Amino acid sequence: MKSLPRQIEKIIEPEPVIEGAGVRLNRSIGTDRLDYLDPFLLLDHFASSDPREYQAGFPLHPHRGIETVTYVLRGEVHHKDTLGNSGSIGAGDVQWMTAGRGIMHEEMPQVRPEGIAGFQLWVNLPAKLKMTKPRYQEIRSGKIPELKNEDGTKIRVITGAVDGLSGPVTGIAANPTYLDVFVPAHASFIQPIERGHTAFAYVFEGEARFAADEKGDGTKISSPRLVVLGDGDQVKVITGKTPVRFLLVSGKPLHEPIARYGPFVMNTEEEIRQTLIELRQGTFATA
Ligand code: CO
Repeated sequence: MKSLPRQIEKIIEPEPVIEGAGVRLNRSIGTDRLDYLDPFLLLDHFASSDPREYQAGFPLHPHRGIETVTYVLRGEVHHKDTLGNSGSIGAGDVQWMTAGRGIMHEEMPQVRPEGIAGFQLWVNLPAKLKMTKPRYQEIRSGKIPELKNEDGTKIRVITGAVDGLSGPVTGIAANPTYLDVFVPAHASFIQPIERGHTAFAYVFEGEARFAADEKGDGTKISSPRLVVLGDGDQVKVITGKTPVRFLLVSGKPLHEPIARYGPFVMNTEEEIRQTLIELRQGTFATA
């Protein structure tokens, strides 16, 4: 079968939103323009050097039916849940949290001279795993393999595999690939992506041409932008005089109905009602 390059399906400009106790975020999935990119429910990019914009953080809040993936570039985020788990994620670390049947947690950015920057992605869980036991995979920066090519391209593999190098996050239902890719100026990058999987790139530094062909065409994307890729086997990225850094994320779509209510994502409205009853009765996320 001939290899099919993925083309650009949509380009999304992130929208500023305020969440938690007043934290400013830029949201590119989970908005009116891109409500759901099956299996991805939400993508937030946070970046600030002003403590007033983030120190109030995300006080105690619930999640059910999803996974939240927090990847910190700069600064530190403390977290604590009502099941007794707690910890801290710093620069380069990732926390892949499977909320399953329910967790109630707080996520508190720490004020540091370098400010804070990072991402939170929500990945949907299939119906059969929505009520699974909560699970954390917390990976320190040093445990995330980084592939360095001769041309200076650097790829951090959080989950999935690149050239036989596998990321440390495992056992995720959507069989995702999550890469942090840096391509220097005047270079190119090709990454195979399984056909049929949903895929996007989130460009957060610099610019590059995406979906380029042999002649070097493609569409120039400057940060910050989300690029939704159409189906195919691979994506090609070419830089000019500016380097680029982006997340490249893909995963198997679930093709299931969703009922969404804030931090709860289930399959039916009845399951949402049930969740709200548990929350009122104080039986949600109890050991
Ligand atoms: Co949360």
